[in-house]
This record gives sequence, C-alpha cells and structure tokens, in this order.
Amino acid sequence: MDAREMKVKAAQAALAYVEDGMRLGIGTGSTADEFVRLLAEKVDEGFKVEGVPTSERTARLCVELGIPLKSLDELPELDLTIDGADEVDANLTLIKGGGGALLREKIVAAASARMIVIADESKLVGMLGAYPLPIEVNPFGLAATQIAIEKAASRLGLSGALTLRKSGADIFMTDGGHYILDASFGRIPDADALSAELNFIPGVVEHGLFIHMASLAIIAGEAGARTLEAK
Ligand code: A5P
Repeated sequence: MDAREMKVKAAQAALAYVEDGMRLGIGTGSTADEFVRLLAEKVDEGFKVEGVPTSERTARLCVELGIPLKSLDELPELDLTIDGADEVDANLTLIKGGGGALLREKIVAAASARMIVIADESKLVGMLGAYPLPIEVNPFGLAATQIAIEKAASRLGLSGALTLRKSGADIFMTDGGHYILDASFGRIPDADALSAELNFIPGVVEHGLFIHMASLAIIAGEAGARTLEAK
C-alpha cells in the first residue's frame, strides 16, 4: 500500500464518525483532501452535512465537489472536525501547518465538540519535532519576532534554524495574510512549555502545536486503519 492508499484508508475510516446532519470542520492537506472526496460521494447520495473549511484551498475543493459550505461565523459551533497532521504522538499532541493552514485549522478545531485526526503511519512519532514546527507570524517586526522565538526556544534548551517559508520566489502568505517560520528544533520534549513560550510572543499569531485538541487519531498502515484515543 502506498502513502496515498493509506491516506484514503484513514479518510474512509473517519467517515464512520460523520453523522447525517452534522456541522463539520473540514481540514486541509492531502489526507483531508481524500476525506473531502469520499464525503462528496456521500453527499451526492443524499447525505446532509454543513462544512466549514479550514482553508481557501479546501473551500475550493468542497465547492468543486458539491459539499455545502458555511462560514465559521454562520456556524460558530461544530460537531466534529476531521483533519490531517504532520506529526502525531502517543498523547495525540500534533504538529500541524505543513500546508500553511494552521491558524484556521486551530480556530475551527477549537470550535468543534470533537476533533479526529487522520494520518498514514509515517506521521506517528515517539517524540514531536523532527518535522519543522510551523509558526505563523505577523509580517510586522519579523526580525524582532524571530529573535524572540530563538530566545524562547533557548530557554527550553531548543535550537535550530527558523526558515521563512517561501512559495517559489515569493514569501509564502497564509490565508490570514501572515508569514510562516518553520522551526527545525529536531525534538520537542515539552510541547506545553514551548506552546506557552510561543503564545507569549506578540508577533506570533499561532503555532502548529495542537495540544489536547484531537480526541481520536485514525492511523492507516499496511494492516489497515487503527484508532488511538487521547489519554
Ligand atoms: C495543513 O496546514 C496541515 O496542518 C495539514 O493538516 C498537514 O500538513 C497534513 O497534511 P498532509 O495530509 O498533506 O500530510
């Protein structure tokens, strides 16, 4: 089974948690896209959902495939969000934002009674941090924010390059008009402490650590999809 087939397996398993009439947060990324495609087939068969997309990219795919969408202002309380992740640990702490949608993803997940993360087994890690942590920052004062992040990381014994994300020759811009610094810490032994430090920095809009947000992970591997529950 290749990575795409595993993503489809995880997305298929997630559909079992979606009930008719649900208000649904819809994630971003290649795994979430597979979920959108499968959900669209159900909607085509008469299944009713109202979706709130976590990015312009996901919104476009949903519109293309006929999934009814609402804004988060129209539906500020959601039943369930299904989204992918870049890394998942055994506590279901996540690194997200590889696709640049972490701010909206976190706002939508926080507005949901439940978040289920879907991933292929390559995303499951013993310790977070091999995947560079996306940190969404305000363009104003970028250099000052970068120094503040480096100092905060250093207080926790972390170091590593902070790379301004690019899209071709241009600086990558999030849906909210912000930049992303990808932090190559290598290891994040204390996600709570790092989250608190980053949240304290005014130029940091949001970071890609999702702590106590996902209650279930559906991880697909060669043997099929299995579930992990938050401890
Ligand atoms: C989008 O900003 C991310 O949080 C994605 O959920 C994450 O990058 C997973 O993407 P893939 O499913 O494409 O690996």
